[in-house]
Amino acid sequence: MAQQISALQKARGAYAPKLPTVLRQGLKEVSIAKGAPTTAAADVEKIQEIFPNCYGQPLISFVKGQGGAGDQPAMNVGVVLSGGQAPGGHNVIAGLFDGLKALNPESRLLGYLGGPQGLIDDDYREMTDAVVDDYRNTGGFDIIGSGRTKLETEEQFTQAMKTAERSNVKAIVVVGGDDSNTNACMLGEWLAAKGSDIKVIGVPKTIDGDLRNEVVEMSFGFDTAAKVYSELIGNIARDASSARKYWHFVKLMGRSASHITLEVALQTQPNVAIISEEVAEKKLTLGQVVDQVVDVVAARAKRGKNFGVVLIPEGLIEFIPELKLLVAELNDLLAAQGDYYNSLKTESDRLEFINTHLSKDSSYCFSSLPAHIQEQLTLDRDSHGNVQVSRIETESLIVEMVERKLKEMKAGGSYTGKFSSMTHFFGYEGRCAPPSNFDADYAYSLGYTAAALIGAGLTGYMSGVRNLMAPADQWEAVGVPLTMLMNIERRHGKDKPVIQKALVELDGKPFQAFAENRREWGVEDSFLYPGPIQYFGPAEVCDQPNKTLVLERS
Ligand code: FBP
Repeated sequence: MAQQISALQKARGAYAPKLPTVLRQGLKEVSIAKGAPTTAAADVEKIQEIFPNCYGQPLISFVKGQGGAGDQPAMNVGVVLSGGQAPGGHNVIAGLFDGLKALNPESRLLGYLGGPQGLIDDDYREMTDAVVDDYRNTGGFDIIGSGRTKLETEEQFTQAMKTAERSNVKAIVVVGGDDSNTNACMLGEWLAAKGSDIKVIGVPKTIDGDLRNEVVEMSFGFDTAAKVYSELIGNIARDASSARKYWHFVKLMGRSASHITLEVALQTQPNVAIISEEVAEKKLTLGQVVDQVVDVVAARAKRGKNFGVVLIPEGLIEFIPELKLLVAELNDLLAAQGDYYNSLKTESDRLEFINTHLSKDSSYCFSSLPAHIQEQLTLDRDSHGNVQVSRIETESLIVEMVERKLKEMKAGGSYTGKFSSMTHFFGYEGRCAPPSNFDADYAYSLGYTAAALIGAGLTGYMSGVRNLMAPADQWEAVGVPLTMLMNIERRHGKDKPVIQKALVELDGKPFQAFAENRREWGVEDSFLYPGPIQYFGPAEVCDQPNKTLVLERS
């Protein structure tokens, strides 16, 4: 029986994503223009030493004419989707597929299954017209699946090279976040050092919005995910102000960075939005963060409003100094002795092990946390050694502490309101949504640009598209050396080269716009209700860019 698809899926299948003008009408006439050599995000000398082959390459832009790419020999290219899903992943593959076919219709695209592990195991599915057409403009990564295997060992690199050689693959495209693009850079360098002619190109993917620099304006997926969460939070805010009896505490995905929380706050104007980067900058304790929420709850109660909406970024605990220290110590401890820790049979043995290995301050902090949060903090790390922040119920931690404080205030007579709360966590709801027009166009353009970079024989580059605030025909396709985004950070208890996470900048326009208004949003009911993403209709509704991009780039 033929697979059924929804009416929207069917209609979206026909959507033709927009491309930067220079890439339209194929790639044969397109040449590259080299810009100035680049450096690294920080720790320049060390990055140069670690990446002697890929470091310092110039920025690449594309121009029509001047010889162009011409007739290219047919080639095989492999693609990997890595890490968390982000709306637009299928369009990256569609853009890459169309771009390769534009270079030579005989070229083939192999999609490695289940993320980087598929590359190691040589497990792939060939992308054909029929396969790709089924997935154009759809959400999800299910065309080939994704995974979080970290490509970093000599053995893995050797396997990846053998896999590519077996199918005569000349370039590998890694669609991923900061860690996956770090791996892409390492693999590209390793292959170049081995004298291999296999190229590696990265594509900036993540809903978290933390993979960017002055050239990479945004990762794909952020726009759609933030719009889905904004729709849901707008709906919750409307329910809150209709029923007037609940405080809703919503934790939002985004890993360490608070870009999503900030974007959603700008789109919905909640009563409170905690921004982790501000908490870190002001060195606020957990108690002080809770006090800020309590102040708004109490001020609204005085006006007879015992309801509201609070947004909490999922990475918050890593930014509260005492909890940050605790998490860092736990990361190092579990990286070094995780197997022993996991072999301990009873809860009390595990707690004792943790407490005896933590510093005095961290041990005190750990002991003061509710048992369920303690347990969540010690759960398995991801393959990059990071605590899995999406599994820590920060929203209930904050609610418990707010409740405790309000009780004390009530006893002292300084609060007379009613506090009834609901907690929510929005993350997975947005990661596989059908891409907004912005993400559909942007992801497709990134895939197409990756093909153009491969056609130019480049390696160690990230596919990029700039000038995103302008209409797509004015977008600029670029190649950004991956080493340009790198610095040295401590991971698994060791210093390693990694792509620097771009956190929310407190002097940036998005945060400033939020900070100027939040007092009013706290006490008044200023909620905005963005509603669902629109795919068809007037451009001012369908093609509206996200607020972060508008404020940062216009
Ligand atoms: P990426 O960095 O891989 O894009 O991850 C995005 C993300 O959705 C984070 O926001 C979240 O913390 C994490 O994935 C959740 O991971 P998992 O999918 O393994 O539960």
